[in-house]
Amino acid sequence: MSTGYRIVKKEVYSPVTYMWEVEAPDVAQAAQPGHFLMVRMDEEGERIPLTVADFDRQRGTVTVVIQAVGKSTRQMMRLEAGDRLRDVIGPLGEASHIEPRAKVILVGGGLGVAPVYPQLRAYKSCGSTTLSLLGFRTQALVFWEERFRAYSDELHLATDDGSSGHKGLVSQVLQRLLEQQHRDAQEVVAIGPLPMMQACCEVTRPFGVRTLVSLNAIMVDGTGMCGSCRVTVGGKLRFACVDGPDFDGHQVDFAELLRRQRRFQREERESLQRYEEDCRLTGRTP
Ligand SMILES: Cc1cc2nc3c(=O)[nH]c(=O)nc-3n(C[C@H](O)[C@H](O)[C@H](O)COP(=O)(O)OP(=O)(O)OC[C@H]3O[C@@H](n4cnc5c(N)ncnc54)[C@H](O)[C@@H]3O)c2cc1C
Ligand code: FES
Repeated sequence: MSTGYRIVKKEVYSPVTYMWEVEAPDVAQAAQPGHFLMVRMDEEGERIPLTVADFDRQRGTVTVVIQAVGKSTRQMMRLEAGDRLRDVIGPLGEASHIEPRAKVILVGGGLGVAPVYPQLRAYKSCGSTTLSLLGFRTQALVFWEERFRAYSDELHLATDDGSSGHKGLVSQVLQRLLEQQHRDAQEVVAIGPLPMMQACCEVTRPFGVRTLVSLNAIMVDGTGMCGSCRVTVGGKLRFACVDGPDFDGHQVDFAELLRRQRRFQREERESLQRYEEDCRLTGRTP
């Protein structure tokens, strides 16, 4: 009998971005927006935290979108539909507290677009007016624009180089939306790289709009025991894996988090180099 969790579908969005739908009926049954999974490719693999980007309870599948940034996520990119993952543990973390809001602005930056999607759908299904703002470096990296359109009252696309939609950073577009016709937004959800989330929080702060961010602190066990994902929120120590990953962005100590995020850079670089060397010697594509 085959063991593990079968990848039922794979889509490649760019040379470094891919999507998997994975058969995991129990996980799909319990998944909510904001949850994440701990995925292990094989017996030797490290645990990789990945946000639930979608779930289908009927089909028993969960969707993740992954950016190949280092050894494990590059190695995982080689798996295809039909292959199996050793472990898919979850759902983990606190689900997002989604309540009906008159108007919500959902901001996704790069890969952060994927975890925003279940939140968008949940806000729409409880009757909120939803504005989506999706930012990418360039048009070639854009994904899920149509998925977002289906649940957005307004959709804005921005690219750093202006190759599609507004030219500029999502935080700049967010500023314009708040200054112009959307001062009445009650909530902003911003998910993406740490500097992007921090910039969005600085934009919303003077407007007094509650802003939720999802903190991708380095996680090891994902269950509150190792302390790796500690963050400071409102001057208090929190563990992103059990108290989050969603937090009030105006309370987050981003400077500390950015520092902590870089603490294994040397080991990560060495691990990737070893992997590339191994691929070179065995004639595999890294
Ligand atoms: C709650 C949460 C949800 C996440 N969701 C997604 C997602 O949906 N899609 C996605 O592509 N990535 C997601 N990430 C980030 C992803 O887990 C890392 O990119 C991955 O672990 C990198 O492993 P690597 O071996 O490929 O790269 P490495 O070379 O090991 O690391 C590259 C960078 O990834 C980060 N990182 C490394 N290890 C971890 C770790 N154990 N936990 C968190 N960050 C780490 C560090 O910033 C590091 O500099 C999420 C992280 C967290 C904490
Ligand atoms: S990952 Fe270990 S405490 Fe959060």
